[in-house]
Amino acid sequence: MPVTPTRFPVPGLAYGGDYNPEQWPEEVWAEDVALMREAGVTMVSVGIFSWALLEPAPGVHDFGWLDRLLDLLHQHGVAVDLGTPTVVPPAWFYQRHPEALPVTRDGQRLAFGGRGAICHSSPAYREAATGIAARLAERYGRHPALALWHVHNEYGAPVSACYCEVSAADFRRWLRERYRTLDALNEAWGTAFWGQRYGEWEQIQPPRRTPTTGNPGQALDYARFSSDAMLGNFTAERDVLHRLSPGVPVTTNFMTALSQCQSVDYWAWGREVDLVSNDHYLVAEAERTHVNLAMSADLSRSVAGGAPWLLLEHSTGAVNWQPRNLAKRPGELGRNSLAHVARGSEGAMFFQWRASRFGAEKFHSSMLPHAGTDSRIWREVVQLGADLGRLAEVNGSRVRADAAVLWDWQSWWAQDLEWRPTEDHRADERADAFYEALYDRHLTVDFARPGAPLDAYPLVVVPALYLAEAETGEHLRRYVEQGGVLVVSYFSGIVDGTDTVHPGPHPGALRDVLGLTVEEFLPLRAGQRVALTAATGGAAGVSGDVWSEAVVPRGAETVWHYAEGPAAGGPAITRHRLGAGSAWYVSTRLAPADLDQVLARACRDAGIRDRDQLPRDVEVVHREGERDSYLFAVNHTAAEARVPLERPGTELLTGEPAAGQLRVPAGGVRVVRLPR
Ligand code: GAL
Repeated sequence: MPVTPTRFPVPGLAYGGDYNPEQWPEEVWAEDVALMREAGVTMVSVGIFSWALLEPAPGVHDFGWLDRLLDLLHQHGVAVDLGTPTVVPPAWFYQRHPEALPVTRDGQRLAFGGRGAICHSSPAYREAATGIAARLAERYGRHPALALWHVHNEYGAPVSACYCEVSAADFRRWLRERYRTLDALNEAWGTAFWGQRYGEWEQIQPPRRTPTTGNPGQALDYARFSSDAMLGNFTAERDVLHRLSPGVPVTTNFMTALSQCQSVDYWAWGREVDLVSNDHYLVAEAERTHVNLAMSADLSRSVAGGAPWLLLEHSTGAVNWQPRNLAKRPGELGRNSLAHVARGSEGAMFFQWRASRFGAEKFHSSMLPHAGTDSRIWREVVQLGADLGRLAEVNGSRVRADAAVLWDWQSWWAQDLEWRPTEDHRADERADAFYEALYDRHLTVDFARPGAPLDAYPLVVVPALYLAEAETGEHLRRYVEQGGVLVVSYFSGIVDGTDTVHPGPHPGALRDVLGLTVEEFLPLRAGQRVALTAATGGAAGVSGDVWSEAVVPRGAETVWHYAEGPAAGGPAITRHRLGAGSAWYVSTRLAPADLDQVLARACRDAGIRDRDQLPRDVEVVHREGERDSYLFAVNHTAAEARVPLERPGTELLTGEPAAGQLRVPAGGVRVVRLPR
């Protein structure tokens, strides 16, 4: 079981990055720690990829360098987030256990030489990984520099599933636990279809490449199994660390940005870590990179259940693994970091401290770049260290959200299986679009898993919840009846947890709450747009693409009609008044700007006031502390912005009093302490 950390790993906000001193002669370390002090670094992540150095041959350990390193860091007041190096077992391990290398769906065994080449069902890997974790915990579990354990690195990337024989056997074990009987499995997977019935457990295989599309229930279960297999390895290491290093929190770095990782069910994982930590990298070529950043931060906080979390990696400038690695512009480094802090991160950490001279990531930015300390990045790094120091008191405060977005990784997996009504619809795209529309209304959102309590939120948005159990629909119906306002996108509530269509007309799980049925899906041609008209007349200027459908109102009122396309004349957007609340349904794909028109009405239903006095791309987020509340204003625009303050306070980065209209410089951040 996870321990709740009695204290955050370091006082105030954490600042630092991945530190890989094994790539450098020890003379350089002294310079490193001196510069860390100059930059205000409080914690570094160490040893994440060091297994081959720590155990150069089976059972032969060399801890000398790590002993010296931890002592040196401690002498200089830098805390350590110590990695278990289990994402890259040494070459000797694979020599002995070639079967631990993962196999792709097409049957190709991947080779040693990159990282993360792991079959997570391999008993040999489990034994070796818990073994090295135990050796580290025995040696450093009580070291005064140790603040946090960092297990593995980014589970789920680059390999998310293995299709080898060992995995096949492990899958069968997992299935037996889940279904108990073969009859139950056959029913869940609908094996009556295409004659796929199984007569013995041994006949069941991973969803390897088949001549045409395979069984969707099998594929969905394999995604669940693969997330669980990785989680099993995480918890095995975690339990070793808890036993041998009691009281020290254990984390592993998540990648909650939907564009970065699909294969991990973070709702399940969030419960197993002592501290949620996240890695976030901008999609550098995107136009509004800060929206995806905010979404990943909100997801991280939400999988932490609202508790403090930590941004464990991001970049000071360009990464080196995207097609075109655009550099961050002046000021963006600090602004990105503080945007994470605004949304609950208890600090800002980077990959990595000092730029590597060799290896695959030598063109990746770092805190201490190849250009050295006479560089813009270094100056901004020093500035950020000072800024985080000024914000230390926000530690422990909690973000205040205005609305919730219902999100479920398992539904996303199901949604992405083959042979759907159109390949142009993606659940993550809808989540992004709804998030962006809420962001543009200046609403701070929590993400909620299906079934989670929703009464704290006047507005709940459901971007595309294809897989929803009947209970989820019931839960949402009660939420609306009791006064909540719900906005649901098309292709939600269609199947249950086994990817079986709910009985009766679509959307089975949500018919009651939405007050409608869907007679037929009517997807659109590539590039086709259909105009909508408001039922009350007047030019709406709203249009959809990708999807339309034949909606039959059964209690809901039509607010917009399809003016054209296969559903012409039929309802496109509806509103169902139910009990004390209302449920909106959006049956086509709207761009964020058009979604705004629906959200504006839904917000009115929910009693959420417009925040149109705030300029676009100026974020205002509140963190509530025990005594004070903190208003973060993050200006992503090239012009100075004004943010109205409800009451006077003190701006923490400048130390100046703030009242009335807070001026936020172009590209800058302001944080105001407001007495509660
Ligand atoms: C992360 C990873 C780091 C480093 C970084 C580069 O995904 O955890 O080790 O590779 O990417 O952006």
